[in-house]
Amino acid sequence: MAEVVVALDLPSAVEAMRLLERLPAKPWVKVGSILMTREGAPLVRSLVERGHPVFLDLKWHDIPNTVAGAVRAARELGVSMATVHTLGGRRMMEAAREAAGGDLALVGVTVLTSHDEGSYGSVVGREGVSLEEEVARLTDEAVAAGLTGVVCSPAEISTVRRILPEGANVVVPGIRSASDAVGDQVRVASASAATAAGATHLVVGRPILQAADPAAALAGLIAEGACAPS
Ligand code: C5P
Repeated sequence: MAEVVVALDLPSAVEAMRLLERLPAKPWVKVGSILMTREGAPLVRSLVERGHPVFLDLKWHDIPNTVAGAVRAARELGVSMATVHTLGGRRMMEAAREAAGGDLALVGVTVLTSHDEGSYGSVVGREGVSLEEEVARLTDEAVAAGLTGVVCSPAEISTVRRILPEGANVVVPGIRSASDAVGDQVRVASASAATAAGATHLVVGRPILQAADPAAALAGLIAEGACAPS
């Protein structure tokens, strides 16, 4: 069973809290760069104090010492999961893992879903790259560095599952039921399909944030096989 992670892609802490008041129990929440830049550590602290497991998605990619410092800061805030970018390299990921200790799950971003083969190829200076092979290669690197898992699109779950050890985190955005608007997501899957393929965390934004009844939208995901928040 997979946890639902509510992506708090909202413009302010006030709106984030207003949304959370409308949801039952304390689901996982994702804080990304926009809300973190606006509201910072006080918002993360208050989410943790309210009892939400927090996924801090800042995709760190910097020198090992700096990333390790950021991971320590996240750990001190009580964050449960955070992202680093696998392209930061093995030494960066190892430094991050050491800083995370056993309290903070660190997952690696492999190839951003905004890339196609041409744009990724021009970043890495190679032609004819297979994005699936790159995702597999970078997942290998994440495992070798001791990360607890990766973030991937629904289309890549089975590829990363073949590489990751049992119990690893497979964090998957792009979750849509048949009645949801797809929006700008290209590769989507339902909660039940992503869970059956091996996702452990389903990152869901607009289907909950824009629902007339966000609690009912969350209940729909639970009915499809996601875990009920505690
Ligand atoms: O609104 P929606 O359900 O599409 O939101 C998905 C969330 O997952 C957003 O916060 C988005 O930034 C994030 N995400 C993504 N694709 C990735 C990584 C993260 O959609 N590859």
